[in-house]
Amino acid sequence: MTHPPLQRSGLVGWLYASRCALPLVWAQRAVDDIVEKSIPRNAALDVTGALLFTGSRFVQFLEGPAQSIATIRQSILADRRHHDIVTFLSGSRAERVFSNWSLAYAGPSLFVADKVENLFHAGIKNTNEIIDLLEQFVIIAQADKP
Ligand SMILES: Cc1cc2nc3c(=O)[nH]c(=O)nc-3n(C[C@H](O)[C@H](O)[C@H](O)COP(=O)(O)O)c2cc1C
Repeated sequence: MTHPPLQRSGLVGWLYASRCALPLVWAQRAVDDIVEKSIPRNAALDVTGALLFTGSRFVQFLEGPAQSIATIRQSILADRRHHDIVTFLSGSRAERVFSNWSLAYAGPSLFVADKVENLFHAGIKNTNEIIDLLEQFVIIAQADKP
């Protein structure tokens, strides 16, 4: 799978989906670990974004300075905890969507999994649809927290 080159400067975003390579029994712990370690790394690189995990698929949107996104993207593309990585959007952004989140996370729920599968089966027509969905899930996931 090839991924288009990122531009060299300014605010850029990267939206992709992938499949989790781990069996579900281990996946949750692995994802918790990814989120815990990503938050300080993203913050240090001035990267914000959101990660959605359906139990089998990841959908992630990251935004930040071009160099930072290039660095993190390289790590993520080489990470063997997932595969079949498909880039939906990669390029310059006028403003951040998740400016308050180093990495907002929405974990597996039937509701999330159904919505995401429907979106994939219907065919992705508009990448903003996916970013909107991430935003909605993040709002729901944060509201559920005690
Ligand atoms: C689905 C998924 C999402 C990830 N998201 C991030 C992220 O937002 N930020 C980050 O620093 N690492 C993220 N990681 C972890 C990186 O792939 C990598 O393990 C970590 O950044 C350490 O980088 P290094 O292996 O190049 O040292 C993610 C991994 C996976 C599988």
